[in-house]
Amino acid sequence: MAPHLRWLFLQFLLLLLEFSSAAQAQGNITLGSSLTPQGPNSSWLSPSGDFAFGFRPVEGNTSSYLLAVWFDKISEKTVAWYAKSSSDGQESPVQVPSSSVLQLRDDGLLSLRNPSGDEVWSPQAPSAAYARMLDTGNFRLVGADGKAKWETFDVPADTILPTQVLPVGQQDKVLRSRLIPTDYANGRFLLVVQPDGNLVFYPIAEHSTFQYDPYWASNTVGNGSRLVFNETGRVYFTVKNGTQINITSAGVNSMGDFFNRATLDPDGVFRQYLYPKSSMVRNVWSSRWTAVSSIPQDICQAISVKAGSGACGFNSYCTFDGTKNQTSCLCPQRYKFFDNERPDFVPQSCDLDEEAAMAEFEMTLINSVDWPQSDYEQYSPIDETECRRLCVIDCFCATAVFQASTNTCWKKKLPLSNGNMAESVDRTVLIKVPRSNNTQSQPSSGSSKWKKDKKYWILGSSLFFGSSVLLNLLLISILLFGTYCGISITSKKKLQSPQSSGSSILPPKIFTYNELEKATSGFHEVLGSGASGTVYKGQHRSDVS
Ligand SMILES: *[C@@H]1O[C@H](CO)[C@@H](O)[C@H](O)[C@H]1NC(C)=O
Ligand SMILES: *[C@@H]1O[C@H](CO)[C@@H](O)[C@H](O)[C@H]1NC(C)=O
Ligand SMILES: *[C@@H]1O[C@H](CO)[C@@H](O)[C@H](O)[C@H]1NC(C)=O
Ligand SMILES: *[C@@H]1O[C@H](CO)[C@@H](O)[C@H](O)[C@H]1NC(C)=O
Ligand SMILES: *[C@@H]1O[C@H](CO)[C@@H](O)[C@H](O)[C@H]1NC(C)=O
Ligand SMILES: *[C@@H]1O[C@H](CO)[C@@H](O)[C@H](O)[C@H]1NC(C)=O
Ligand SMILES: *[C@@H]1O[C@H](CO)[C@@H](O)[C@H](O)[C@H]1NC(C)=O
Ligand SMILES: *[C@@H]1O[C@H](CO)[C@@H](O)[C@H](O)[C@H]1NC(C)=O
Ligand SMILES: *[C@@H]1O[C@H](CO)[C@@H](O)[C@H](O)[C@H]1NC(C)=O
Repeated sequence: MAPHLRWLFLQFLLLLLEFSSAAQAQGNITLGSSLTPQGPNSSWLSPSGDFAFGFRPVEGNTSSYLLAVWFDKISEKTVAWYAKSSSDGQESPVQVPSSSVLQLRDDGLLSLRNPSGDEVWSPQAPSAAYARMLDTGNFRLVGADGKAKWETFDVPADTILPTQVLPVGQQDKVLRSRLIPTDYANGRFLLVVQPDGNLVFYPIAEHSTFQYDPYWASNTVGNGSRLVFNETGRVYFTVKNGTQINITSAGVNSMGDFFNRATLDPDGVFRQYLYPKSSMVRNVWSSRWTAVSSIPQDICQAISVKAGSGACGFNSYCTFDGTKNQTSCLCPQRYKFFDNERPDFVPQSCDLDEEAAMAEFEMTLINSVDWPQSDYEQYSPIDETECRRLCVIDCFCATAVFQASTNTCWKKKLPLSNGNMAESVDRTVLIKVPRSNNTQSQPSSGSSKWKKDKKYWILGSSLFFGSSVLLNLLLISILLFGTYCGISITSKKKLQSPQSSGSSILPPKIFTYNELEKATSGFHEVLGSGASGTVYKGQHRSDVS
């Protein structure tokens, strides 16, 4: 289809969509009402039309829909809430095919059924008399007594909205970041209003619920009361004695002119965003979400975990631009986004003898970057030449740091973690790269089998610490592709993602280049480089599919 025709077609579709959703604007949603992902009844609008509850297509999978609440008046249709279900202790977003049905049944229960009629999601709520999509963005089931029986504000996903309150209670009240902007799977960060009264941000080991040491806490154990997103545009945590601990603030007086949300982003930063509502405001503000306030201020410095990758993901490094309050994740030289078609360089085989290793690899200077937690060997006294040599000939060594004043050399191993821009005064940071630009050199025996099978695995840290030595060796040779840095990219073939098995071999997530492009542009003001560090992923490529 010619581009302009496609554009017209899209416009037409949009018109259709707008027409159909306009037809749905309603107050009370009565028992017996239902929604389907396709067709005229795919969402219920709030009275103002600002918010909608219903089905959102999942980017990159035309046959899959999310059950969500979103900002309906903006072209981005930004999702503010999405349904999750849990099985085997693993929580995942509810995604259903197009002929699924959500119904507010005659018995007052809300139920989502897949095409075969199996219930895939239902809120834990007693019978309701009707439902309402409120103008605040809260979707509520209301009982015959007029009281809320269940509401999306009680079970937030990664975002909170003005008037939303998370009180300290019997259970954790959590926000969980997404993996990347277009993948709603649980990501690597958690914000919890704990029953003990503390508000805490934790990095989470991916595909697990294990919490690393927190990177921010309100330190109000015994005294915390509730996290409030006030309608005046401030997010604060209240303490029992009345004190408000400021979290973020919009910093504008005319909140009515803006859509407003606060999200725990995939990079672990909790950001408050504004989006101008009217064209008058748009003269000053561009028509997109602008982050106006965030915590922690500099995620690169805030996160430093003993295990786990840090803010950006393994083998990458994090930079914070204080003039723009912007975090970016970058790859070191010769490390790139993973690409099945063109791995940047072939890993060093542990079978190479010293001479061959010296011929194939060299140490090159990398400026102002450090991975402080990846040391595994230290030499002193030593000179720089020897420091370089010892890293080159060691297939486990990825970078080396030489300090001239103390004649000390540290070797660092893969995967590199907690990467950070750091002024390396008095220190020379070196990274191992192949000498030749030729990426077609003979692959090592360890990886050739994998190459032949067209199977590439990027595996999680849990596996890295797995028990099998063989597995670890295999893993190391594969890690040298630099695949942990950035998001894995596949540009051509369809990829198959095995289902979660609950074991430590983790379900891969695969993104096409297009998805990534979309992902990053949808998030451009935050992740400058587009690498959000989703790097622990397994990827299984099958040519058959
Ligand atoms: C919604 O239902 C409640 C209870 O039946 C009723 O009091 C209210 O007026 C209804 N609102 C609208 C807009 O129909
Ligand atoms: C859509 O919903 C409206 C109001 O609930 C209903 O009258 C109409 O029949 C529905 N349309 C379809 C195609 O289900
Ligand atoms: C798309 O989503 C459906 C479920 O809705 C799933 O069965 C299918 O595997 C997904 N396809 C891809 C390519 O991820
Ligand atoms: C927002 O602040 C005002 C006054 O500061 C207060 O009256 C109101 O209850 C607050 N909103 C929430 C949701 O706590
Ligand atoms: C609660 O706050 C008070 C006053 O700030 C403090 O003395 C007390 O130790 C706090 N309680 C706990 C359990 O920390
Ligand atoms: C209230 O409690 C917080 C934390 O426990 C403490 O820092 C603050 O000083 C207290 N304020 C007053 C007025 O007691
Ligand atoms: C919190 O923010 C409000 C409004 O911006 C300000 O008035 C107040 O002084 C701040 N409180 C603290 C403790 O910084
Ligand atoms: C960065 O954030 C801080 C604290 O939120 C704020 O004071 C400062 O103005 C921000 N700078 C820019 C350029 O947005
Ligand atoms: C590798 O490429 C760079 C820039 O493309 C070039 O300057 C350098 O000479 C090349 N090295 C070799 C060994 O081909």
